[in-house]
Amino acid sequence: MGLNYLSDRKGIILAGGKGKRLAPLTNAISKQLMPIYDKPMIYYSITNLMLCGIKDILIVSDPFNIGSFKNLLGDGTQWGVNFNYEIQEKPEGIAQVILIGEEFIGNCHLAVALGDNIFHGNDFVKLLHSADTRSNGCTIFAYPVRDPQEYGVVKFDRSGNVIDIEEKPEIPPSQYAVTGIYFYDNTVIDRVKELEFSLRGELEITDLNRKYLNDNLLNIEIMGRGNAWLDTGTIDSLQEASLYIRTLEHRQGLKVGCPEEVAWRQGWINDQQLESLASSLSISGYGEYLLKLLKVQHLT
Ligand code: TTP
Repeated sequence: MGLNYLSDRKGIILAGGKGKRLAPLTNAISKQLMPIYDKPMIYYSITNLMLCGIKDILIVSDPFNIGSFKNLLGDGTQWGVNFNYEIQEKPEGIAQVILIGEEFIGNCHLAVALGDNIFHGNDFVKLLHSADTRSNGCTIFAYPVRDPQEYGVVKFDRSGNVIDIEEKPEIPPSQYAVTGIYFYDNTVIDRVKELEFSLRGELEITDLNRKYLNDNLLNIEIMGRGNAWLDTGTIDSLQEASLYIRTLEHRQGLKVGCPEEVAWRQGWINDQQLESLASSLSISGYGEYLLKLLKVQHLT
């Protein structure tokens, strides 16, 4: 079944950072290249942007790993998208990548995705599309978690309006964590230039989102409990994410986070192109899956 959704928004994926919680795994390889079951972690973020119709994507990584991302992903034409690359010299904050990407963003709206966040759920793509249609302000996605103090946490008033976002609060004002995908209008460039480095030496995404909140321009999409939001920053969460994806894929025979499939369903590559991508991957079984897509009718 075709998706045929196209956005004129640009996308940035963060694939840098220290990855200290995964050491020694991350001593010589980027966290976002680690496998989540049967594919590199960054495939999941790329697929989300593609599902949102975004074709121009900037990958930002550190000087050591940027070459590996280029080797893995190339210029994107194989999936009908355009990949651009920039280096973040030091992990000086999530919001800093917007400054790094200023030229790439130009006068477009923007989606920023953390390369280590996995989303899955029936209405998740609908939430993305609804954020994409908003041309003013920013949209964040919040999700209830057991340990909100590990994240940026949303504070609501009695009527459910957002009144603050607190970064890693000792006493969380709600269970709702801000997840790692953010949609911004083009004023984001001016706003990020006004940010100051935090005590931990970073340009904080929470400070940026607060600027929109202060101007009454912050929208929030609440992801219901039927969705999964997994972050993969620790050894246990990395394993849990792999098991989650493995369980779904084994049960349904459908892959999660498969860019080749999304490109094909979006109509960005044709049957012949999918077939040729499949042939280069046949030994791992991933290619067999792509070939099967051409033969089996899926209604979802
Ligand atoms: P974090 O999970 O906050 O940090 P980290 O990945 O460096 O891990 P650790 O805490 O174990 O040291 O980062 C969230 C995502 O953003 C992750 O995909 C890495 C990325 N990131 C950057 O690309 N540049 C940055 O400056 C920061 C802070 C994060």
